Amino acid sequence: EMKGNTIIVVFGASGDLAKKKTFPALFRLFRQGFLPNDVKIVGYARTKMDKAEFHSRATSYIKKSDDDAGLAESIDKFKDTLTYVDGDYDTGAAFDVLNAHLLEIEAHYTSEDKNRLFYFALPPNVFVTVAKNIKEHVYASPGVNRIIVEKPFGKDLDSARELLSSLKQYWSEEETYRIDHYLGKEMVKNILVLRFANVAFASCWDKSHISNVQITFKEPFGTEGRGGYFDSFGIIRDVLQNHLLQVLSILTMERPVSFSAEDIRDEKVKVLRCIPPIAQEDTLLGQYVGADGKPGYLDDDTVPRGSVCPTFAATTLWINNPRWEGVPFILKAGKGIMNGRYFCPKSKYGIQFKDVTQGIFQDIARNELVIRIQPSEAVYLKMNAKTPGLQTHAMVTEMDLTYNRRFAEAKIPEAYEALILDALQGDHSNFVRHDELDVAWKIFTPILHWIDGKNGTPPHPSSYPYGLRGPQDLDKFIQKYGYHRTTANYEWPVTNLA
Ligand code: BG6
Repeated sequence: EMKGNTIIVVFGASGDLAKKKTFPALFRLFRQGFLPNDVKIVGYARTKMDKAEFHSRATSYIKKSDDDAGLAESIDKFKDTLTYVDGDYDTGAAFDVLNAHLLEIEAHYTSEDKNRLFYFALPPNVFVTVAKNIKEHVYASPGVNRIIVEKPFGKDLDSARELLSSLKQYWSEEETYRIDHYLGKEMVKNILVLRFANVAFASCWDKSHISNVQITFKEPFGTEGRGGYFDSFGIIRDVLQNHLLQVLSILTMERPVSFSAEDIRDEKVKVLRCIPPIAQEDTLLGQYVGADGKPGYLDDDTVPRGSVCPTFAATTLWINNPRWEGVPFILKAGKGIMNGRYFCPKSKYGIQFKDVTQGIFQDIARNELVIRIQPSEAVYLKMNAKTPGLQTHAMVTEMDLTYNRRFAEAKIPEAYEALILDALQGDHSNFVRHDELDVAWKIFTPILHWIDGKNGTPPHPSSYPYGLRGPQDLDKFIQKYGYHRTTANYEWPVTNLA
């Protein structure tokens, strides 16, 4: 564990990810006293800027609220930990300058041990060079060194394997923390507890009781401004192959022997290995077009003309093991999507149970367990109860655990906050292991190649208007897998929203 004598170096410190996610997360950890004593944070990037400019950028996304006593003072203290070094990513000499800066900070350490945590908020084309240069020029010895890297980890199985093995030349698995930030989300971390700490759920968690599972991600905005990056990846690489597949693997894995990182990841890899590559006929693709004054995907200047890149995808996965054989797992994600009368959850997973034995009931709704990941975390079970009153009718209602009511005082940490803390503590449980990444790519590579037009003409995504729920065929697609919209007249009470 990195408790003292620690420097955190943020590469790509002038970029968007660092500004929006990394520094705010570091600040929250700092403020709550979770960073190592006397920690120093060093930003590194190509942009030349002075300390004041760096300080203002690094703190620009910290949430400011007027009734937050002591915030300004905490920000000032945080700034005292922050310094900046500019330099390029490919020459050793530039990294020697960085190293000299770190040695200066470390000069006052009273013991030999040094900890250096390197955070890559970098575009993937410099991952390997930076990894190499750190190892050769900035590696603390003796000391503990760790790197945190984030997707994209390649574009398909072969490129991911190549990237993994290039990084492996310099950094061991033990030293490497591959972020999938969904693993840091409260309601994703909650799955293990909900499943394995409740007999009521654990005992019906299989093909005999569950009809289908949906894991959903919707964003009410498009790819504006990020179109250049997005177009060469598409929604499947952006969200399904990583974030949604992670949720799926924890939802379906067997009970781990312990909560240790390797026990958990062993089970995740095992269940992922039972999933065959996704079939074309189990895939529905969409791309948003302009509507209501909002621009379409192709209206973005950074998107190549006539691009057939999907901004929406639904895919169904099957797990060939005795627990899950025949149960469809529908992953769907889209940009430029909003839903219904109420603001819909941005991401959630829902487990639809099978029909209850008919006979005494007709047309009775199925149970559905829904976990809202965000916004407004909640777990609720749609269930049937007797209509209150003198008649005996069944009605659909819910058992509801809405976090902002039940745990009004609790501070739910941001994903990056939780994950950086894990990396400092040396806990790999919520990071992606190399073999996990490999099997994730195996599942998705064939349809990605098809979509990329590697083996012929690429499929044309169906258009959907910006702001609707996705392609028109979506309902048909979902129903094909046995989803029952038996709860059509049921809405989770909107008063539950934050
Ligand atoms: C990122 C994707 O990994 O996750 C983005 O690249 C997406 O396209 C984001 O917007 C969603 O993260 P969150 O935490 O806002 O759900």
